[in-house]
Amino acid sequence: NYLRDDVKSPECEDLLSSLPSEEDWVPTSLPSEVDCVPSSLRLYQGFWFPSWLLNSVVACQNHFQAHPSDILLVTSPKCGTTWLKAILFALMNRAKYSDSYSQKRHPLLTQNPHDLVPFLEFRLYLQNKNPDLTAFTSPRLLATHLPYSSLPRSVRDSNCKLVYLCRNPKDTFISMWHYFNKLRPEEKGQLPLPEALDKFCRGVSWCGPYWDHVLGYHKASSEMPEKVLFMKYEEMKADPSVQVRRLADFMGRPFSEEELRNGTVEGILRMCSFDNLSALEVNRSGKLPTGLENKWFFRKGEVGDCVNYMSAEMGERIDGVMEEKLHGSGLKF
Ligand code: A3P
Repeated sequence: NYLRDDVKSPECEDLLSSLPSEEDWVPTSLPSEVDCVPSSLRLYQGFWFPSWLLNSVVACQNHFQAHPSDILLVTSPKCGTTWLKAILFALMNRAKYSDSYSQKRHPLLTQNPHDLVPFLEFRLYLQNKNPDLTAFTSPRLLATHLPYSSLPRSVRDSNCKLVYLCRNPKDTFISMWHYFNKLRPEEKGQLPLPEALDKFCRGVSWCGPYWDHVLGYHKASSEMPEKVLFMKYEEMKADPSVQVRRLADFMGRPFSEEELRNGTVEGILRMCSFDNLSALEVNRSGKLPTGLENKWFFRKGEVGDCVNYMSAEMGERIDGVMEEKLHGSGLKF
């Protein structure tokens, strides 16, 4: 049951009712068969979260104990999480699947990346207030959408590493719009694009404001480059092998001369490519335990697709907001 009984506890009710509220892009919780409840967005610690997620966010903040060897992938929704989960998993496990026989049995061929690298608040702590994580072998690969300032204390205080991936805000916005339209109940129809744009530009989106999410990690990465690796989806698309080598170095598992010679980097990129992953049976017809269909995580996987949906004016509105909010940070999209 993905929505635990204590969602309705007086404590949680008190917290929820004290938080500013906005209409969610999706009017109900995740489509898990068990419990689908109405959703609103709530402003918690400066960021907007779906109301049904808050209990899990708080449980994760209170209970998650980071290990120094943990690697945590952090993103805002729709920035390429699925791709990077696959790449991180493949990087971490490359020794196990190096020969061609093992390659055919690679877990990424039969399991969705979200099952192999689970989210803390959107999966593990949604299921259970204090989940048993002892089954994870070290080093643990986990993921979160939480903003830097809302991370569990132990994540910030321990020596664990964070890989942060962001994406051009216009493409992120268009990807979000498509995705949330899939999550909306049929009878509600699509969320009109101008309405979605207005929410996005006011910062009202899952784990938004988008700019504050990015800025938090950008700052952390410039202050602690050995702890936080800051990556962009567009750079991954433009030169994936350079970025994957950067990732491997950051994880403390650089590619050996032999791996570089025998095409390990290219092999990982081929396996994790949009075309390969999206064509796999598991990603065409499978579902996550939260009720989400695996195929929803693979749409186009391109840079610049926003121009096919947004007018120049709409684009300028996002550009204007981003310019204002990122001013002085040194960060540009
Ligand atoms: P689009 O909607 O623009 O196609 P997330 O994984 O954070 O939910 O992000 C989803 C976005 O990443 C979608 O973008 C999706 O198509 C894209 N994506 C998924 N797998 C990918 C891959 N292997 N390579 C590149 N992009 C991928």
